[in-house]
Amino acid sequence: MSQRARVPRHIAIIMDGNGRWARQRRLPRLAGHRAGTENIRRIVTECAAQGVQYLTLYAFSTENWSRPSAEVDGLMHILSDFIDRETVNLHREGARLRHLGRLENISATLQQKIADAIEMTSANTRITLAVAFNYGGRADIVDAVRELVARGATPEEITEESISDHLSTRGMPDPDLIIRTSGEWRLSNFLIWQAAYSEYWTTPVYWPDFSPEHLRQAIDDYGQRERRFGGLSEET
Ligand code: IPE
Ligand code: IPE
Ligand code: MG
Repeated sequence: MSQRARVPRHIAIIMDGNGRWARQRRLPRLAGHRAGTENIRRIVTECAAQGVQYLTLYAFSTENWSRPSAEVDGLMHILSDFIDRETVNLHREGARLRHLGRLENISATLQQKIADAIEMTSANTRITLAVAFNYGGRADIVDAVRELVARGATPEEITEESISDHLSTRGMPDPDLIIRTSGEWRLSNFLIWQAAYSEYWTTPVYWPDFSPEHLRQAIDDYGQRERRFGGLSEET
């Protein structure tokens, strides 16, 4: 059955373009990543105000390890500073934090910070903020299937449902709307399983400049879409 979409329940954002934002200003790439991280809170606030229940942000992919080590180290520090600075604010906002992806290769200190932030906000219900950090869609599917196999699942027990229940997004609805900034049109290994019927929206704006107004535009456009999920259109 088709349905007219309204406010997306789950928005997922590929926060791209930090490097180009910095280059445009003759700043180092890490300055772009800092500016990008500083943009997160106002977008979370706007999503919550619009009634979006889940917001997933792609912050660091399993493929981003291939960047120069200074950039990777810088990104680790920036996430750490973000948690120090923003957890209390997000908590006040009623946001519940989640981490998507692998914890391995992340330093023990950072892992602890992530765990503490998740714990502190675990009872919040206004919006769930899932941060995909050291996340790759393929790696997540591999991990889910490995876990099922390790538990002795039979071939019949490997189903769409059981795989979904072992992904790091378990318990979350699939994203209704996927936004990518900086004018790129690809998923880059983000939520590849969960995106089967997601609507897409892209903008040339670089992530640090992506404003609540851009978000409202994306939500308005989404409201005009007709989602069919393989069924027939309402007009037929
Ligand atoms: C997105 O910005 C953030 C990460 C991938 C960590 P980029 O660093 O990819 O910025 P561009 O694409 O080089 O402009
Ligand atoms: C995707 O952006 C990953 C994040 C935004 C964290 P990339 O900049 O890494 O993707 P590609 O390399 O352009 O596909
Ligand atoms: Mg990029």
